[in-house]
Amino acid sequence: MASIFSNDDGVSNPSGNTALTELVDRAIAVNPARRRLMMGGLGAAAIPFLAGLSACGGGDDPAPAPAPAPAPAPAPAPVEQMLGFAAVAVSSGDAIVVPTGYVSSAIIPWGEPINEFAPAFKADASNTSADQEQQIGDNHDGMAFFGFNTAGNAFGERSDEGLLVLNHEYINPEYFYAPGTDAANWMLPFTYEKAQKALAAHGVSVVHVKRAADGSWSHVKNSPYNRRIHGNTPLSIQGPAAGNDLLKTAADPSGTDVKGTLNNCGNGRTPWGTYLTCEENFNGYFGWNGARTPSAHENRYGIAQSGFGYMWHTVDPRFDVNVTPNEPNRHGWIVEIDPFNPASKAVKRTALGRFKHENAELVVAANGKVVVYMGCDERNEYVYKFVSAGTFDKANPTSAANRRLLEDGTLYAAKFEAGATAGDNMGTGTWIALVHGQNGLTAQNGFANQAEVMIKCRQAADRVGATMMDRPEWVSANPKKPGEVFITLTNNNRRGGTTSNAVDGTTTAGSARPPVDEANPRSNNVWGHIVRWNEAGADYTAMTFNWDIFVMAGQPTVTDARKPSANINANNLFNSPDGLAFDSFGRLWIQTDGSNANTGDFAGMGNNQMLAADPVSKEIRRFLVGPSGCEITGITWTPDRKTMFINVQHPGELGSHPNRPKKADGSSFVDNDIARDATKFSTWPTPNTRPRSATVVVRKTDGGVIGT
Ligand code: FEO
Ligand code: CA
Ligand code: CA
Repeated sequence: MASIFSNDDGVSNPSGNTALTELVDRAIAVNPARRRLMMGGLGAAAIPFLAGLSACGGGDDPAPAPAPAPAPAPAPAPVEQMLGFAAVAVSSGDAIVVPTGYVSSAIIPWGEPINEFAPAFKADASNTSADQEQQIGDNHDGMAFFGFNTAGNAFGERSDEGLLVLNHEYINPEYFYAPGTDAANWMLPFTYEKAQKALAAHGVSVVHVKRAADGSWSHVKNSPYNRRIHGNTPLSIQGPAAGNDLLKTAADPSGTDVKGTLNNCGNGRTPWGTYLTCEENFNGYFGWNGARTPSAHENRYGIAQSGFGYMWHTVDPRFDVNVTPNEPNRHGWIVEIDPFNPASKAVKRTALGRFKHENAELVVAANGKVVVYMGCDERNEYVYKFVSAGTFDKANPTSAANRRLLEDGTLYAAKFEAGATAGDNMGTGTWIALVHGQNGLTAQNGFANQAEVMIKCRQAADRVGATMMDRPEWVSANPKKPGEVFITLTNNNRRGGTTSNAVDGTTTAGSARPPVDEANPRSNNVWGHIVRWNEAGADYTAMTFNWDIFVMAGQPTVTDARKPSANINANNLFNSPDGLAFDSFGRLWIQTDGSNANTGDFAGMGNNQMLAADPVSKEIRRFLVGPSGCEITGITWTPDRKTMFINVQHPGELGSHPNRPKKADGSSFVDNDIARDATKFSTWPTPNTRPRSATVVVRKTDGGVIGT
């Protein structure tokens, strides 16, 4: 709920000073019973406003007693602290670390049965593809909690029960497959069945979850809402690219029906109660058998002969671009899912463009337009925003018209410029429309129509001169400051050269080495940074903005051009910011997916982690550290913010971790070793069992609000 209603909270306070309404929000969020204290402490002038708040309350607040006899005024209630927890230290251990006063527990790991009828997880990874289709997928990523309504049958505001919807980005073959017969490569012989098992582990899980009286959460296995959407599930294609020749295949001559959603990375959510899953590195699943000279379009999206090594193209012709050349064009989209209608078909929304989507941050602008901010995660790619053609009907949030708002609109790409002063880490920017016939997006330049502008979105952004960024990851809008938006730029080892993405769209993905610029000021940016912008007039639909750098990660001992910003110190070191989300209070949560080597440039950073930041003071404090080899990602809250859900993705990935196991000859384990000795490095979260991605529930031991 962080930001979808961010224009509805009535707080417009660009000064950064704390508004009265915000102080009250903070106090009430800590403890609803404080409404009474606030009424006593703030005096008569505040009473009508506070009475209104009380009337909107959730029913957990006893009515105020009749006015008592005059008595000493109670002490003012403390307001909710922006960073009201004790920082945790770094760790390279195989466990979750949370602050004093907090507890964490893992639920719904990879392989868990999705419902009461599904087969059990087999600890030796021998489940079949048919089993996997009925089990929680792998590599948990973006996630949203949708509380039930009072009746328990639709989207609402309950914090004790709801649907947890989460992405499954990819698989780790070293843990995903029981070893085969080839001593040199555990994946061999690679079979059609293995490809289908991998497809079944991608996509999305819809999981009915419920809080018990003791505050713990569990999966309600006998619920009809439990559902898997995976790499073979039938989906629709809708919007300007639907039915275009570039989307047609022999299996789907209409170009409107596609099998599956793949590489489901970050997410979004809509105020009409649907979930958005974002297809990122889809190119890695494709390849070809035999000879082929890839087209410029294939090169621009990184389609390569062997893909990322998953081998699907060797057994399933859908992934061999010599057989099915248009199949890649059917992936790389935002997909909308209605979790409250298990029979509904998910829809690929082509108006939001085709690229390596990280997440989709949806806000409603003051004029009612729906705006979706998105990043394309690859070195030197772009930042985008979509503005709907229609307007949101706030009075009827789940109306049929609202549910069609992502069908039609305008997509823009961002240009970040230096502004009036060079070298001050701030500047100005513009949004450039990706509309056929405008800004050089013509047939002469390779775009036959609007469908092709959406399918070749990267080339369109090249053509209009968008700014190449240091790997755009998650975007999040500040719910307490309309028009303010943050983006993580995770790292870029191809910054600091002299080559740029060619204007004619012929650059192979990730191959340029652009010079530093003011928004991407580091050559070889190994640690990453976070940029924020404020739209002109605090209007999400504005065409211009001002931007600045919120944090440059890094090592404070470095004082040359690579030096971090002043809000980095020895106690909050991190690298590679990736997941990013505001909670409804306005606290910014930062999750990392970077090096856990804990040495050299990364000394003192430990395992991947999650931090919280004050967007006004810029203070950053570490809240959580993950187990060995994982990244921390996916973040969502119950509406009362007393439960936080995050995801631990790929625990046990060997990488450069200091505890990477060694063989008898002293050399480090490689994937073929860990595949055969799967508990040697990480066993998180199940003792004596191979590591499994899972969701982590974080609560305060006193039942309070997370972060306070
Ligand atoms: Fe799927 Fe860019 O992280
Ligand atoms: Ca500047
Ligand atoms: Ca990510």
